[in-house]
Amino acid sequence: MGFQRTHFCGELRAEHVGQEVVICGWVHRRRDHGGVIFIDVRDREGLVQAVFNPERLPVAEFAEAEKLRSEFVVQVFGKVHARMPGMANPNLATGDVEIYANKLVVLNEAKTPPFAVEARNGVDEALRLRYRYLDLRRPELQAALALRHKTTTLIREFCDQHGFWEIETPMLTKSTPEGARDFLVPSRVQPGEFYALPQSPQIFKQLLMMGGIDRYFQLARCFRDEDLRADRQPEFTQLDMEMAFVDREDILKLMEGLVAFVMEGTVGVKLPLPLPRMSYDEAMARYGSDKPDTRFGLEIYDLTDIVKDCGFRVFADTAAQGGVVRGINVPGAGDRFARREIDELGELAENYGAKGLLWLIVTDEGSRGGISKFFEPSKLNALVEAVGAKAGDLLIFAADEPQVCAEVLGRIRLFLGNKLDLIPEDTWNFLWVVDWPLFEYDDTSRRFQAAHHPFTAPIMEDLPLLTTDQEKVRAQAYDLVLNGVELGGGSIRIHRRDVQEQMFKAIGLSAEEANARFGFFLDAFDYGAPPHGGIAFGLDRWIMLLAKQSSIRDVIAFPKTASAQDLMSDAPAPAVEKQLQELHIRLNPEAVQGLKQKETSS
Ligand code: AMO
Ligand code: AMP
Repeated sequence: MGFQRTHFCGELRAEHVGQEVVICGWVHRRRDHGGVIFIDVRDREGLVQAVFNPERLPVAEFAEAEKLRSEFVVQVFGKVHARMPGMANPNLATGDVEIYANKLVVLNEAKTPPFAVEARNGVDEALRLRYRYLDLRRPELQAALALRHKTTTLIREFCDQHGFWEIETPMLTKSTPEGARDFLVPSRVQPGEFYALPQSPQIFKQLLMMGGIDRYFQLARCFRDEDLRADRQPEFTQLDMEMAFVDREDILKLMEGLVAFVMEGTVGVKLPLPLPRMSYDEAMARYGSDKPDTRFGLEIYDLTDIVKDCGFRVFADTAAQGGVVRGINVPGAGDRFARREIDELGELAENYGAKGLLWLIVTDEGSRGGISKFFEPSKLNALVEAVGAKAGDLLIFAADEPQVCAEVLGRIRLFLGNKLDLIPEDTWNFLWVVDWPLFEYDDTSRRFQAAHHPFTAPIMEDLPLLTTDQEKVRAQAYDLVLNGVELGGGSIRIHRRDVQEQMFKAIGLSAEEANARFGFFLDAFDYGAPPHGGIAFGLDRWIMLLAKQSSIRDVIAFPKTASAQDLMSDAPAPAVEKQLQELHIRLNPEAVQGLKQKETSS
């Protein structure tokens, strides 16, 4: 006979008036009004009101309705009626109608839930994650998952139209370096050996190109054991892509087409193409970030030449030591900020690694406060002109090495953008950051590391510098930034064995290490590797931005906490002794105990 459901609750409209319908769902709310019971029934598509009137229902049926509580699972049979004049609910999509129930089936009862399934509430996230199945009933989460499905559907459609094949790559594999720690899986069959879960399918997608696949994509699960934040999960999803016989321009153009297709199909936004581009150096100089949020101004200016001889020792010393003085003009803040607020900026700057934050306020007569006394009129004029300041503006400065100035002012800029409410909503600022350095210097290991990953090709004219002047080598790499979030990144790859070997050498891998870890991959270069390149987008981050959420946990069905736990299933959990034995693993109980104690006390 079937379950007989005719409509989703949220689908019913005035056009259904007069129809006999059957709906299924959860009791969202129950109200008794003068003997008549109103039940809001909720399903994936929304809420609808069902009316249980004792005058129209058999006694037994009405008694059932009286027992209903929140989150009971019900099937309601009835007829759709227009609501009485004045009784329509404009806040509800189904608010013009209600169902006059003539039969009720209670499919399941529910305990009182630990929190109400409401659109918005201040429920503690830990509680929501523990009862994620209840949390998933919230309309926002359902909307986010629907959007996620819509996005992946559009992605598959675009990829199919453009000749990309969807291919799965292994999860039990060897380490793929993307800069994080690996998750390891012990092998039972090969005692003492481990698989690594992929940090990305990077090596495999390159091998697919060497295998003649030409165009590949995958909605790939990636695993990274790293410090977690609002936009980082230990397992997350990439839209991973790779193409053979392409250069950077081919890839950027095709990817812009994909991004525009998804933006139009999800949020209805027509993106003007081509998307803007900015070099890494410019992004760091003007925005203090490799993922600049270009939705607002507050740009950073290099003021070293203007201020180095103004008479203020800090500026002179910094310049003499090869440092820089950079500043931001904060319009109107000179008049508006209390002294306490300026001091707060100074504290922030110190937290971000500066020695301090220097400032002055531009006035009609000249300047006041902070370091204003060092600026005689012509110097001040030059300064004011350089940053476009006017009376009432606050100028803030950092004096340090270029990287420190960029980091500090970049973060202060974001802080001020939020504080002063300068960031417009409903703006979609995409930006390619191009011309990256190939290496970055790591202070802890005191050596160069790959800025992206070690398969990124250098710009060919910089090739001779690869093993001699690492800091000067530029990469054929690009990142896509959306509203200040790193949405994706990719590059043209190395496809020659000698270059790949030099690259490994440059990041400090000996030939033996390189062979042990990547020998199979290096061998593949010997048998006809085509030129190729690609990109990976952080799918969770993209959906987060589309859904206007601030954490990727809000667009992932079953996310983990900041300490990488699944509060619902309670993973990770101890393994039973027998499993450990089979895996040839013996725990060090004292160490485990000690670490646990450290965890709980910190
Ligand atoms: P990359 O490491 O930049 O590149 O990753 C690509 C994109 O994945 C997203 N991302 C994450 N999202 C959530 N949680 C995380 N822990 C996390 N880490 C990264 C970001 C990022 O831009 N193989 C290369 C791509 C390539 O070269 O083709 C790679 O993985 O949005
Ligand atoms: P000093 O003359 O070194 O005592 O510094 C005076 C004040 O200037 C300190 O309180 C710091 O806040 C600030 N300051 C010193 N050096 C720097 C710098 N390099 N950048 C920004 N502020 C600085």
